[in-house]
Amino acid sequence: MSRIAYVNGRYLAHHAATVSIEDRGYQFGDGVYEVVPIHRGAFIDADLHLARLARSLRELEIPTPMNDTALRNVLMMVVRRNRVREGIVYLQITRGVARRDHAFPARVIPSMVVTARHGPPLPTDIDGWAASAITTPDIRWGRCDIKSVNLLPNVLAKQQARRAGVYEAILIGPDDQVMEGSSTNVWIVDHEGVLRTRRLDHHILPGCTRAALATLLAENAIPFRDDGFDLATLRRAREVFLTSATSLVKPITAIDGQPIGNGAVGSITAQLFGLFVAHARAQGEQHARAQTEQHARAQGDQHARAKAEQEAA
Ligand code: PDD
Repeated sequence: MSRIAYVNGRYLAHHAATVSIEDRGYQFGDGVYEVVPIHRGAFIDADLHLARLARSLRELEIPTPMNDTALRNVLMMVVRRNRVREGIVYLQITRGVARRDHAFPARVIPSMVVTARHGPPLPTDIDGWAASAITTPDIRWGRCDIKSVNLLPNVLAKQQARRAGVYEAILIGPDDQVMEGSSTNVWIVDHEGVLRTRRLDHHILPGCTRAALATLLAENAIPFRDDGFDLATLRRAREVFLTSATSLVKPITAIDGQPIGNGAVGSITAQLFGLFVAHARAQGEQHARAQTEQHARAQGDQHARAKAEQEAA
């Protein structure tokens, strides 16, 4: 089956889907994106992703191309047309096509592209899900809270990780503060057993997985601190893990070639991995139930219509 992409109002064969060479996303990285995980054909934490998308657009003064309902419909259509049950849907909105000039064009018609990709099912074996990381200086700009497609420093950091044969590069900011990963948020259980992550401000992306996990922590009365920590604290941590749409809760058992704790997946990480996977599964189940009900209603309607027609004849 060939892949289908949505581009500015049309569903096209993926290989034939293109945007203009004058698109500001291409010229300037002048656009935003979202990655929403899919499980059993359902979006995971769609509300969080759409709220962040709206915020990113607002912060960059890019007009919203359509309302939330229409946006969800397009995303779901791309997921369905690509028959993605497990994977991700990718959405990108840019400031559209204009003659190259740094300042905003007078009239903006945003460009929107949506693609979907198959991925692995939710992991069940946490040891197999664990990975390693390196650390590298954070050389990004001052508004990393906006999910901009302008990802060059993240690209360079991830390439460093790839060359080192590890999963992620953890970005270290001023005063040796741990910021986040090149495409993930970073959490630790520190040497005293305290669950910690960095506060949200302009210097890191407010991860939707981070937000969903924070809610799960509150629901389970598990306290955490979000006042950040430095590189020395990261190295001394008992447990380290990452969160993102594609990493979910991912244990990090070695950093810069040195084991974290005893080098095995920690018990708190394992617990939170379990909570998050259950949270994702619940959304998949809810979606499956809603679909079954919808199907039954449609069949019932059909049956009732047929009966009415029969009676009328
Ligand atoms: N990355 N920090 C950065 C810099 C990110 O790029 C991401 C997401 C996250 C985690 O956010 P979330 O939990 O909403 O996925 C944190 C996506 C997955 C990507 O670029 O592919």
